[in-house]
Amino acid sequence: MLSDQLKIAPDSVERAARTLRAGGLVAFPTETVYGLGADAENVDAVERVFAVKGRPSTHPLIVHLSGAHQLPDWVVEVPDAARRIAERFWPGPVTLVLRRARRVPLAVTGRLETVALRVPDHPVALALLTAFGGGVAAPSANRFGSVSPTTASHVREGLGSDVDYVLDGGSCAVGVESTIVDLTGEPAILRPGGVSREDLEQVLGGSVPVRGKSAVRVPGQLPSHYAPRARVLLVEPGQVLGLAEHLRAQGCRVGVLVPPEFAGDAGSGAGQRVIVVPDSHARYARQLYEFLRDFDRHGCEVIVASVPVPDGLGLAITDRLRRAAGPRG
Ligand code: TXA
Ligand code: MG
Repeated sequence: MLSDQLKIAPDSVERAARTLRAGGLVAFPTETVYGLGADAENVDAVERVFAVKGRPSTHPLIVHLSGAHQLPDWVVEVPDAARRIAERFWPGPVTLVLRRARRVPLAVTGRLETVALRVPDHPVALALLTAFGGGVAAPSANRFGSVSPTTASHVREGLGSDVDYVLDGGSCAVGVESTIVDLTGEPAILRPGGVSREDLEQVLGGSVPVRGKSAVRVPGQLPSHYAPRARVLLVEPGQVLGLAEHLRAQGCRVGVLVPPEFAGDAGSGAGQRVIVVPDSHARYARQLYEFLRDFDRHGCEVIVASVPVPDGLGLAITDRLRRAAGPRG
């Protein structure tokens, strides 16, 4: 039975779908992070998503679909590259930017003529999208600029009663957001994420650049984003412990993210919380946001970290750490 598999109350998906139909907001799990969903074709509901997130209305939302078969309903045309990526990776952590069909309200796209679409790989998300039937516009279910939620309790802590219904699907398996690929021209990555650049290049049969600055407004491309309260300092892996010790000696509460090869016998103690990062990129990505939250919970004022080798999921981890370390607005 679906409900056994999902380990959620049998009627909760139906209740969530009803909430969406009534114009309400539903937080739901995906394989990447939790989303804050609204009926993509209900402009009032979409506007409430922006209000709850505190997100400028010019920053577009991703429309979530139950399957690739729905793609042609939401875009003017499905280019060959989109077909190939969808076939290979959907359901999965990659989002396609294509030219929008008229049914996509401009409120969703931040008034752009393009729309971002994805099919998430999570049984609860797919059950919700199938029960609802339409597209669900959803950003990550956190306030604008803060760390994305990877559990239902993160969502409740962050958004409280501003969300009408929260579907709990456990911890997110990928842990960082989807890769966003712009296919309106030459393919380009707008945000590194759960599907690696290498895998995309293999499917597209050519190099796919990561576009640093783009004409479109992608909040993931603002300097400071995905940021914990603590200030984040990035240094070479061999300098992490030394800088942390220096700051601690000055009376700072320090959080430390250190790779296993450089951890020595460092441990948490007075004024210092040490997390030795997992040696696999996949496990690191899955836990990255929880690590950042952990430091905030422990009152760390500064986080000292290094970036991993930027291959595979390492590119997304590096991107999120750099943005967390970016200048604060
Ligand atoms: O994994 C994910 O993508 C998660 C889950 C919930 O699906 N969603 C997510 O949404 O990360 P959000 O809103 O936090 O980030 C969506 C990104 C933003 O950077 C947004 O600007 C970009 O997608 N985006 C949306 N529509 C776009 C468009 N038409 N052109 C370019 N970028 C777009
Ligand atoms: Mg987000």
